[in-house]
Amino acid sequence: MRLRYIPPRMPGTTSQSAGRSLLACEGMSKAEIESILDAAEKYRAMIDRREQSDLLRGKTVVNAFFEHSTRTRTSFEMAAKRLGAMAVNFDPGLSSTAKGETLADTVRTLDAMGVDSMVVRHASGGSAAFVARHVRATVVNAGDGRHEHPTQALLDAMTIRRALGTVEKKRVAIVGDVLHSRVARSNVHTLRALGAEVVLVGPRSMAPTDLKSAISSKIFNDLREGIAGADVIMTLRIQLERHARAQFPGGGEYARLFGITPARLEWAKKDGKVLVMHPGPCNRGVEVSREMLNDERCLMLEQVANGVAVRMAVLARACGAEQ
Ligand code: CP
Repeated sequence: MRLRYIPPRMPGTTSQSAGRSLLACEGMSKAEIESILDAAEKYRAMIDRREQSDLLRGKTVVNAFFEHSTRTRTSFEMAAKRLGAMAVNFDPGLSSTAKGETLADTVRTLDAMGVDSMVVRHASGGSAAFVARHVRATVVNAGDGRHEHPTQALLDAMTIRRALGTVEKKRVAIVGDVLHSRVARSNVHTLRALGAEVVLVGPRSMAPTDLKSAISSKIFNDLREGIAGADVIMTLRIQLERHARAQFPGGGEYARLFGITPARLEWAKKDGKVLVMHPGPCNRGVEVSREMLNDERCLMLEQVANGVAVRMAVLARACGAEQ
């Protein structure tokens, strides 16, 4: 008997499971975001107790990362395994990508092996949506160029909610290389949907033009002005890999003007009661001072811990197994 591979739907058609894919935070409702965060709370408790579950037994999750990652890829793998799924890490460096295989052919090939959900990171904006048009599996965007990084924003929202009780009416200053940051884009949409007041702060050369209508306030080019009154300072990595040419004189100059230090937290609140976040990886001593990284107000590792929980919630949804 000849086995026949049934091709996936043609590009441009809509997936039956599109509602379970997570391609962007733009357009997500408050209720949708909160349901993921509520599920993630349950999974965070499971992780803290080092428990596992069989919720995704029989499901296959493929991590297809065409860009480097420490946190996102590892936490998606841990999330899938903690829920009992088979987690496969596709390595583009060892794949037929090097022989000229296109992205569409690569993901269709993986899909044909029987995948329930594909987690995709790629340097091109729109690549996750592109993949979703070529595969049967649900697709989770793990970062597409400078466009979006939805699970990062969800884990950031979870971190703020756990630390402050709510995101609503909190003032969040997103500081740094906003122009090139998919983290900033996803956070603006997520935090605004949850009722936060979001302001953007950074050098003129790194200020976005596309987010002006999505934020409640103007874009600040002065750190002291921009972080005034902030409950949370969300710092961003300088995305050197996305700079076509130098956007600032150097790390020392950036740190002098925009680096976050314990002393500068008093520019936000006189009592210095401000939370500092960074998605990682961090240019130590540039975006955040070394002293600040060791300060209990810096939540970087708490963000990482919440990342596994959020990705468990997202994978459960993507595999159609929400509890
Ligand atoms: N925050 C983040 O996406 O980190 P990685 O690039 O290490 O996954």
